[in-house]
Amino acid sequence: MVTNSVRPELGESLVAYLEDLQESGLDGIPAAFAAPGLSDESARKTAPAGQDAVNKVPVAPLSANKPETLEQIRKNLGDCQRCKLGATRKNLVFGVGNPKARLVFVGEGPGADEDEKGEPFVGDAGRMLNRIITAMEIKREDVYICNVVKCRPPQNRNPEGDEIAACSPFLLRQLRSVRPEVIVAPGKFASQTLLDTKEPISKLRGKFRDFHGVPLMPTYHPSYLLRTGGNSDSFWDVWGDMVQVLQLLKLPVPEKSRKK
Ligand code: URA
Repeated sequence: MVTNSVRPELGESLVAYLEDLQESGLDGIPAAFAAPGLSDESARKTAPAGQDAVNKVPVAPLSANKPETLEQIRKNLGDCQRCKLGATRKNLVFGVGNPKARLVFVGEGPGADEDEKGEPFVGDAGRMLNRIITAMEIKREDVYICNVVKCRPPQNRNPEGDEIAACSPFLLRQLRSVRPEVIVAPGKFASQTLLDTKEPISKLRGKFRDFHGVPLMPTYHPSYLLRTGGNSDSFWDVWGDMVQVLQLLKLPVPEKSRKK
């Protein structure tokens, strides 16, 4: 039994989470409780004072043996008010797709359409993402799609550090549950946040990076492709990135040629 008598400020949700982990037989916890970046290392560096004891517990890799189910994680989020986005959102956007997907897309955060429907990537950017997924000859329902933050930031501003910190443990738990073989991070914000770097997306994209032991491919955001056009250099850069993803997954690479 995990009690919060020593650390009451950690709150009910953390205690429930630790209990869930205990019940599922997991012997480690993610360190990124309060980190703006989601790397375990950055979590250790930026964890609030007094959290050292938590961070000394071995960190569960993304490939933890007995992961929680997505339903358990969603239940634990509840009517989440852990950050200020809870007060302004219409719907919490948890994630959608195959709970055992080999490929996961992690975007920035919900926009207006996603907030309305409670599903990630359903607006214009979503249609562009669907186009990319279709070009890869895979189905949207076969991948898993989620975001760095689960609630829409007002006026579509970038999520702030405290919002990312509140949401990041849940994203890590989702990724541990799905256990993808490859993660794609569309856009500067998701790529820089997940990799805890300020490197520009133009430099990040096109090369696999490590995210908790899983290869992560940074690429341009579908919204950016909407601005540059469906036959732009950027569009074909993204296609090149997706070809690498397909190759890593040992899936057939469809033949595509650029229209002049
Ligand atoms: N952009 C994102 O990054 N995520 C969404 O869910 C929608 C648009």
